[in-house]
Amino acid sequence: MSITQALLQPIQVGDLQLKNRVWMAPMTRSRANNPENKVFDIHAKYYAQRASAGLIISEGSQISPKAVGYINTPGIYSEAQTEAWKQVTQAVHEAGGHIFIQLWHVGRMSHPDFHGGELPLSASATNPNSKSYTPQGFKDTVTAKEMTLEEIKQTIADFKNGAKNAMEAGFDGIEIHSSNGYLLHQFFNATSNHRTDEYGGSIENRAKILFEVIDAIKEVMPENRIGVRLNPSLHGVFGMTMDEETIPTFDYIVTKLNKYNLAYLHLSEPFTDVSEIPFAEPNIAERYRPLYKGTLVINSAFDQEKGNQIIEAGLADAVAFGKPFISNPDLVERFAENAPLSEWDQSTFYTPGEKGFTDYPSLKKEQVG
Ligand SMILES: Cc1cc2nc3c(=O)[nH]c(=O)nc-3n(C[C@H](O)[C@H](O)[C@H](O)COP(=O)(O)O)c2cc1C
Repeated sequence: MSITQALLQPIQVGDLQLKNRVWMAPMTRSRANNPENKVFDIHAKYYAQRASAGLIISEGSQISPKAVGYINTPGIYSEAQTEAWKQVTQAVHEAGGHIFIQLWHVGRMSHPDFHGGELPLSASATNPNSKSYTPQGFKDTVTAKEMTLEEIKQTIADFKNGAKNAMEAGFDGIEIHSSNGYLLHQFFNATSNHRTDEYGGSIENRAKILFEVIDAIKEVMPENRIGVRLNPSLHGVFGMTMDEETIPTFDYIVTKLNKYNLAYLHLSEPFTDVSEIPFAEPNIAERYRPLYKGTLVINSAFDQEKGNQIIEAGLADAVAFGKPFISNPDLVERFAENAPLSEWDQSTFYTPGEKGFTDYPSLKKEQVG
């Protein structure tokens, strides 16, 4: 019976009582197409439609103008942006849901077109050899500028400011985007961090910025409302390359995160097949569940069956679903009824407006016709 599904059991996260373990993964939807990168009323509608998720993690939201790397992504650094997010948090809360905002700095995954011709920032002067989606279309990324100590300090302050604004906007918490090849991940991996100062060289030094970001954010919000996202075995995508030190670095980070009373640790299984890479870890939940003592949410390519299985096996406490939530606003209800899922349309993932955003029907609507 559906009532016994592990995914549908409530879960206590810090001081939040969440309805279930079906969480919505953060997903950029590129609908903030206005000069100030503010969210609109359609964002409120989109997230409220998905409020039956145990927890919604918002799309990545840049913490400063320097942090941006894609057109039409929302920000959380200005007063106007903070004000605009209020309609989203209010709509989700009115619909009985909980929502965290993902705080984002893309680092080198950007382009000078976003920065008045200046180079994007990164741990070191490296090029992810990727593409940036600029106002003029896709362009090749360039070699980034190595951040000065002053720029690192400013970035940590920007994360803190984003968290402060998030609290003011009514979010239940924040998730630090230290995943998927973006700025903090660029610091972690030795292949993208060639620094010789206190932020490079050893594992401890490469991980340092994450803990400084957490410590700064803790000053403006409770520790148990902070989530951290990591993708240890990301290789060959988003410009990231693993080496022998990558997994030991993540082992160190995850173990050290136990010193904090975080809301959760959000991990992704590898995005690509890494079985041929000798230094990659193909089973992320299996490796990190024994290392991490707090709430662990797992992601990537899960369905209802695999989601229930991983929780029953004791390898995760919750599952974050991405694409299934794009096309199934009532994903939780569909799981409860063992109902079929709607397919997502990739061509409208990042296009402006309501098409492919707020127009996926719920099961009830489908049945009514
Ligand atoms: C359209 C789209 C946008 C995404 N944007 C983000 C993002 O802003 N932040 C992030 O951490 N991950 C982002 N991701 C990755 C998802 O959170 C998730 O890891 C990925 O979709 C795999 O999960 P799934 O198989 O359940 O979709 C995005 C994925 C998609 C499909």
